[in-house]
Amino acid sequence: MYLVGEGMTGGYGGGDILRDCTIGVEKGEIAVIVGPNGAGKSTAMKAMLGMLRLRLGSVVLDGKNITTLSPQARVAEGIAFVPQTNNVFTGMSVEENLEMGAYLRRDDISGTMEQVFALFPILKEKRRQAAGELSGGQRQQVAVGRALMTRPTVLMLDEPTAGVSPIVMDELFDRILEVRDTGLAILMVEQNARQALNIADRGYVLVGGENWRTGTGHELLANPEVRKSFLGG
Ligand SMILES: Nc1ncnc2c1ncn2[C@@H]1O[C@H](COP(=O)(O)OP(=O)(O)O)[C@@H](O)[C@H]1O
Ligand SMILES: [Mg+2]
Repeated sequence: MYLVGEGMTGGYGGGDILRDCTIGVEKGEIAVIVGPNGAGKSTAMKAMLGMLRLRLGSVVLDGKNITTLSPQARVAEGIAFVPQTNNVFTGMSVEENLEMGAYLRRDDISGTMEQVFALFPILKEKRRQAAGELSGGQRQQVAVGRALMTRPTVLMLDEPTAGVSPIVMDELFDRILEVRDTGLAILMVEQNARQALNIADRGYVLVGGENWRTGTGHELLANPEVRKSFLGG
């Protein structure tokens, strides 16, 4: 797979949170991680970004072992990450937020910014406004747009639809599908399991830091155990 965390085992210094956990995503594909609160979904994503030292296991990007690289080095290798909270600079304008996303680049970023504005037209309209004045859904667009400013090959999103209405969620998922169709690998943690699995090429159900069930999004949606435990029957 293009990005894979294989047999990830480790935690935050106490006991292991992740136990032999394997998560992967291909280019042009959306992989979704679902599971109960505290299952280790965010921890798995942080481990793949390098914010967590693994005791066992590896992270491989495009065939290259990146297990010991810092998060910044992984970003330079093409991984972009949108954390669940505090993912925009509220006091800065939309445009400044996007520029911040491109801080690693030394080339002309205007073309990429136009691509972000094409994906999220409302951001062009509001580009001089402080991000803190935007609605929740619009802020999430800023956060995703900022991540795209590095021209990543992998986009990791931790609960991008947290706290937004069902309509805004559907819109955001449509935009994420558009991004996928440009060839990026997208790895997403989601609480809205049913809707997320519906657009997922690949799904991982984590329980207690372990892989519980894995399959295509539609396989998991059709799985009676998954339905009973996570989808309300
Ligand atoms: N920074 C941290 N330090 C110590 N323990 C943490 C930290 N972040 C999360 N945990 C613990 O790791 C476990 C998994 O958390 P998390 O990955 O955030 O779960 P999820 O995203 O699935 O809700 C939980 O028991 C949580 O308390
Ligand atoms: Mg989480």
